[in-house]
Amino acid sequence: MRTSDDIVERVRNAISIVDVVSEHVRLRKRGRSHIGLCPFHTEKTPSFNVVEDKGIFKCFGCGEAGDVFSFVMKIEGLTFPEALAKLAKSAGIDYTPQQRSGEQTSEDKAEPLIGACREFAAFCYRALRADQGNSAMKYLLDRDFTEEILKKFGVGFAPDGNSSFLHSQEISDKTLQIYDQAGIISRSDNGEYYDRFRNRVIFPIINQTGRIVGFGGRILPGMNKELAKYVNSPETPIYHKSHILYGLFQAKESIRKLDYAIMVEGYADVLAVSQAGFENVIAAAGTSLTTDQLNLLRRYTKTIVLLFDADLAGKNAALRGIELALAADFDVSCIVLPVGEDPDSYLRKEGAEGFERQLAQKISFIETKARLLKEQGLFDSPEGAARAIRSLVETIAKVPDAIKQELYIRRIAERFQLMESTLLTELRKITGRERREDVRKRVESSQREEIASRQEKQFASHVIDIPPSRAELELLRTFLENAGVAYKAIIEIDFDISLIEHEYVKSIIFTCIRSYEENGEAPTVAILLEAFRDDDAVRKLIIDTSIAVEKISEEWENAELSTIQIEEKLAQSAHQSGVLIMSEVLEKRLNKLQQDIRQVKDEIEISKIMEDILATAQQIKDLKTLRMREAI
Ligand code: CTP
Ligand code: MN
Repeated sequence: MRTSDDIVERVRNAISIVDVVSEHVRLRKRGRSHIGLCPFHTEKTPSFNVVEDKGIFKCFGCGEAGDVFSFVMKIEGLTFPEALAKLAKSAGIDYTPQQRSGEQTSEDKAEPLIGACREFAAFCYRALRADQGNSAMKYLLDRDFTEEILKKFGVGFAPDGNSSFLHSQEISDKTLQIYDQAGIISRSDNGEYYDRFRNRVIFPIINQTGRIVGFGGRILPGMNKELAKYVNSPETPIYHKSHILYGLFQAKESIRKLDYAIMVEGYADVLAVSQAGFENVIAAAGTSLTTDQLNLLRRYTKTIVLLFDADLAGKNAALRGIELALAADFDVSCIVLPVGEDPDSYLRKEGAEGFERQLAQKISFIETKARLLKEQGLFDSPEGAARAIRSLVETIAKVPDAIKQELYIRRIAERFQLMESTLLTELRKITGRERREDVRKRVESSQREEIASRQEKQFASHVIDIPPSRAELELLRTFLENAGVAYKAIIEIDFDISLIEHEYVKSIIFTCIRSYEENGEAPTVAILLEAFRDDDAVRKLIIDTSIAVEKISEEWENAELSTIQIEEKLAQSAHQSGVLIMSEVLEKRLNKLQQDIRQVKDEIEISKIMEDILATAQQIKDLKTLRMREAI
């Protein structure tokens, strides 16, 4: 099917790319173009340009570029016809894409599920306000929620028994399946459908475009203690809990205006804080904060005030949230509430004024972490204090912006009366920056000597010009594709990363592993590019390799391999590259030893080298067997 070019041009002419982009990015006019922070990668200075009269955008940071259609496709994950249909609609142009029979867009598939959620939300909304909702309503009003706030968040009640959603109506089999897919009902082992949410207060979960996609159901007081406090929607085609921030839809205007978001833990907290007049409040309900959620929030602000309870779980969640947000280049500060209080209970006691006071007294993430470590008694001994300070520096190492890092280091130095230089050394050690500086120094010094000595020139070209070996590149590719799988694969063969000779490859892989070990996930390409911000050669290597990753992923997609098959191939590839790198290094070592032995006269020395030769040869032999076994 080919879309007529006519309609594409009509839509293009009817809308402003600046308007469309502005829905996602805060743009400022600068000269002939508009600039803002790129929504496609993490950055602190705007390099995302929109040229209105040309109808194009380009990010000079990540290279992403295109027209209004590619922007919408990319940012909303749509196909071209979907993006066209969406833009046509907003421009008021009549356009219905013709479809081949059987061809379904993702929007077509989502629509019935969204409809089902809307229906269920409306049912619960009415039920809360009808007789069967009396006790639930009483409970909510007793908690001082106003009718207005319950309405704003669409709060409802899911009855049980005969008046439940499922039992109060006739439903066709087809519709049952849709309800099931939408996570509203579920199916027991004997094939019978039942209501997922029974006798619970219902908090609809709304995505940032205002569609209800899931639910949280809270138990009522006085019910069976063994029941879970919350029942939540499962992951469905329209609901991915790690991609959604509860309350964002209601909060986004306020967040944009105030340029910060208040982050709390639960549904009830969002309602209470919003009701008290702080409308810029959201929660990562049902999950600990994720990078995807931060990327969503980034469109509205880059400043977060984290609010958390003083209990241990609350603190740990906060610490994790701090580090993740810092790594995504957010500014983070915290409010630790008095022991035993959550935002909702605190507001009931101290009111909006008390909350305002807390906001005014918010503390930096450094201070927050320092206090938490102090509570754990770490500052009671010199060793403990050293560990605590190192751990603070580790947190600062997560900040992608080098200038901010140094400012934070200065704060710690002042706070604990330490030498800034000591802390900076520690920081460099952690970020691995030292490693890269070493390379640079070596390159520089060898460049100086280059003039004097031809041999030195060879060394310099070894460091800068000699490209990575094929095996090194292949290993890097596996890491950029799926660091978790690649990492496990090389652990299995006891691969030592320091064997990688190419410094850039080594640094990138090292960064992937560190991130994987710390966050349980590998850094995205954007984050990697950011981490090597001032190292163009490394950035180029990352981009080139990522493009290779794309190509291969495409091939695999075309070959219709399953995820498991792809991971299997990837692990194999990482294995093989690791083994190859090891054998190459060992062969070189063996050659060198064999040269050495010819030049040495001393008997003892000779026997030592001999031993080395034998050991190395054995290692090579072992690797060969490993390779053979893998080949089978
Ligand atoms: N949560 C959950 N499942 C649970 C407990 C909690 O999904 N069994 C999630 C919910 O998103 C909840 C948040 O974690 O909102 C915070 O939990 P909690 O503080 O216990 O809930 P509140 O919503 O604050 O409930 P309340 O104040 O009514 O006790
Ligand atoms: Mn609570």
